[in-house]
Amino acid sequence: MKEANYYITTPIYYVNDQPHIGHAYTTLACDVLARFKRLDGYNVLFATGTDEHGQKIQKSAQLSGLAPQDFTDKVSETFRELASVMNFSYDDFIRTTENRHVEACQFLWKKLEKNNQIYLGSYSGWYAIRDEAFYNDNEIKTLSNGQKIAPTGAEVHWVEEPSYFFRLSEWKDRLLKFYDENPNFLAPESRRNEVISFVKNGLQDLSVSRTSFTWGIQIPQDSKHVMYVWLDALTNYLTVAGYPNLSSPKFQQFWPADLHMVGKDIIRFHAVFWPAFLMAADLLPPKRVFAHGWWTNEGQKISKSLGNTINPLDLVQKFGVDQVRYFLLREVPFGQDGDFAVKSLIQRNNSDLANDFGNLVQRVSTMIYRECSKQIPQPETLQDQDLLIIKSATQLYSLLKKEYDQQAFHKGLEQTWNVVSQINRYIDEQAPWNLKKVNKKRMETVLYTAAEAIRQIAILTQPIMPKSCNLILDQLGCKQNERTFKYLEISLKIGQNINNPIGIFPRI
Ligand code: MSP
Repeated sequence: MKEANYYITTPIYYVNDQPHIGHAYTTLACDVLARFKRLDGYNVLFATGTDEHGQKIQKSAQLSGLAPQDFTDKVSETFRELASVMNFSYDDFIRTTENRHVEACQFLWKKLEKNNQIYLGSYSGWYAIRDEAFYNDNEIKTLSNGQKIAPTGAEVHWVEEPSYFFRLSEWKDRLLKFYDENPNFLAPESRRNEVISFVKNGLQDLSVSRTSFTWGIQIPQDSKHVMYVWLDALTNYLTVAGYPNLSSPKFQQFWPADLHMVGKDIIRFHAVFWPAFLMAADLLPPKRVFAHGWWTNEGQKISKSLGNTINPLDLVQKFGVDQVRYFLLREVPFGQDGDFAVKSLIQRNNSDLANDFGNLVQRVSTMIYRECSKQIPQPETLQDQDLLIIKSATQLYSLLKKEYDQQAFHKGLEQTWNVVSQINRYIDEQAPWNLKKVNKKRMETVLYTAAEAIRQIAILTQPIMPKSCNLILDQLGCKQNERTFKYLEISLKIGQNINNPIGIFPRI
């Protein structure tokens, strides 16, 4: 049987900025999917990294007084640190200043030239360094102080320089056909419609090289030009898969990518330019691009100049890594914008984690520990109400698979917590603390049933809260190698010793 492979990527992060909640959010979503697929038996390639070339980075390096390479070495490290603190399980961390990437970009360039997709011309128009993007005249606004800005609010400057162009204008019909034939390529639906109408309006050839600065990948055979940073950056997805080694097992396994996760601000690059570059180089476009929304901070746009960026490292230190991971994916429907408020994080933690899930685990494992000689009890024949509880937990697997394949984390978590509530109600109704005196066998059956459902939920929730779920599984004496989805149907071992229960989700 052909092995199931799954290649998922985060955008690569600009190193002009310290990591903030937005970066943590994108990578978290990918981490959850990567973990879920691994537990589900897939061979996963999960890539993240840093975007280190271009005018913006050159400028930031100058401001910091460091040479660009030293500057990027330093800031890139902070993104690895973020990944470690947030418990991100990436397989590859790519930096665009690495040789493997320079080779991939130059190879792709030559291929595009060979396919007659690139020509030399000269560019004159507006450029926003903050967005590293070109804008048309009709998109520019002039502020009262004379400053010109793009629709994103970024300042633009007039640029005139020799430049190579990519024949993007020729790709309109093929792109529209591609979107039409691949309805799952771009989500959410509203973004897909936006992109389709943008392409329908017509595309202009795209300037893909710059001559007014040097911090970038050199164009083969023309050392005056460096590659446009978005062409360089997007190519990282190919580099990680082993491009230009097209016949390598890695490339065969992982290209096209299954999912590029991006924020809503960078869709056009991923859903228009990128598939056009790829098709123009005789490569397949990715299977899917998902654009998530943006976080505001207590109602305000997050920005360096407002000084209201949210540092994920501080949050983790204060509230715990799994608490932050859970909150970010539970609080806001994935794909929509959301507002970050510490009050909501505390509320979510106390109600969903401490009260609902934590309390359930605590009372069931404590009773087993105290009343069943620290061992998973032998149940009697399960009654319908017991079977119903176990069935609800078991059914979560296919529900989650469906929701996570649509990147609907909030729905997956909602369904999971419905089952948690159902088990809590079951415990309340069965009242094992009363059964203890009147029907010990029944008490054991109820505790067994609840523990088995908890085991399944903990296995399924590992992608969201890896540390806490593994502590729960430790507590139930579940073996390390029996925590993948394959083991969902192999129930708790009767007589297995359990550990002295510890509180896993403290109230904040
Ligand atoms: N370097 C480019 C991506 C190149 S990918 C080939 C880039 N980098 S970035 O560092 O500016 O942004 C990376 C991601 O962070 C984007 O997906 C962006 O949407 C996300 N976020 C930045 N601020 C955010 C919020 N306030 N909220 C949620 N996500 C946000 O773009």
